[in-house]
Amino acid sequence: MFSVTCVAPVNIALIKYWGKRNEDLILPINDSVSMTLRTDELCAETTITASESFYSNKMWLNGEEVPFEENTRILRCLNEVHRLAICAGSQKIPLSWKIHVKSFNNFPTAAGLASSAAGYACLVYSLACLYGIPVNDQLTTVARQGSGSACRSLYGGFVQWHRGNLDSGCDSVAKQVVSSKFWPNMHLIILVVNDQRKNTGSTLGMQRSVQTSQLIQHRADKVVPERVNQLKTAIHKHDFDTFAKITMKDSNQFHAIAMDTYPPCVYMNETSHSIVSFVHDFNELMGSSLIAYTFDAGPNACLYVLEENIPKLIYAINKAFPNDEESADYLRGIPLSNLDIQSKTKDNIFREKMELLKIQQKNTLKYIIHTKVGEGPRLLRANAR
Ligand code: DP6
Repeated sequence: MFSVTCVAPVNIALIKYWGKRNEDLILPINDSVSMTLRTDELCAETTITASESFYSNKMWLNGEEVPFEENTRILRCLNEVHRLAICAGSQKIPLSWKIHVKSFNNFPTAAGLASSAAGYACLVYSLACLYGIPVNDQLTTVARQGSGSACRSLYGGFVQWHRGNLDSGCDSVAKQVVSSKFWPNMHLIILVVNDQRKNTGSTLGMQRSVQTSQLIQHRADKVVPERVNQLKTAIHKHDFDTFAKITMKDSNQFHAIAMDTYPPCVYMNETSHSIVSFVHDFNELMGSSLIAYTFDAGPNACLYVLEENIPKLIYAINKAFPNDEESADYLRGIPLSNLDIQSKTKDNIFREKMELLKIQQKNTLKYIIHTKVGEGPRLLRANAR
């Protein structure tokens, strides 16, 4: 019996992946760029045990058994890792041994945050550890076949998923742009919004967009290639202002395409739109883009912000989105003392400006998660018995 336990991070796209040119191989119509988040706040943790005595492959997700042999995406990941193990001549454990997979997310799925990226990245990374395969571009093509965005979670820092041109998908790989050490003061504040609605899932939503949106091809051919280059230059130069503008424009364009889909995919709600207005008002009052929003296929907002601007941002959020909650449960993740917020926002001119923010109804935000740029997956334990 042999077992490994690994963790893998969530990543949040700055330039969105939306639309496939091949549904089975999960080949995208455009490149995308993301930031990997550290695993302390949000991650998937997976234990895979392989044994000669197991009769069948099994999987549990957050403690509940889920079908394995019927799940084509999981099967494809397993078969692809087996193929890489054969190519690498790895003899670590026999490929005929069945496996049991136990995976957990350390954050509530109800938060509506992309869990499939971390989940499939963790599955593929754990399989690679189990069979002794290195993490490289080829491995990202395997994670991609679990869930497209998962290929970006195999690396830390800022990551680009290259759409590739080959029909085989061999060149549709993720590559690191810069490591997490390059821009270590890049933080993320996630505003989890109260919402009961069931959204159209990403897989179905983007399929429908490719079939019906007339704008999507222009985005893929013209807009994204330019934006990817501009964003990478901004990252290399630590130019937050440009980084912020591109990120916000790309989020808006993705949701415009979702709306141009027929029937439309409506992911943002009234609170999401009030967050967009809040960010633009805040940036205008501050005289430059200090915060950037991005929204995935749901109503929650991810706000990119440099560490030094967090006290001001939290002060502004507390002002514009008042909440009754106890602060410990409301403000989760990297701790930020109330004292810090008060002392770093004492400036009268700043406080006067914040009086101009539009105040929303109480309790429109469920809670806030404070996290930052982080590293790729890692092996926690390996046991042989
Ligand atoms: C809006 O990777 O979940 O988060 O490949 O069908 O599994 P599948 O889709 P998925 O789509 C993510 C879409 C997005 C944008 C992004 O992460 O780039």
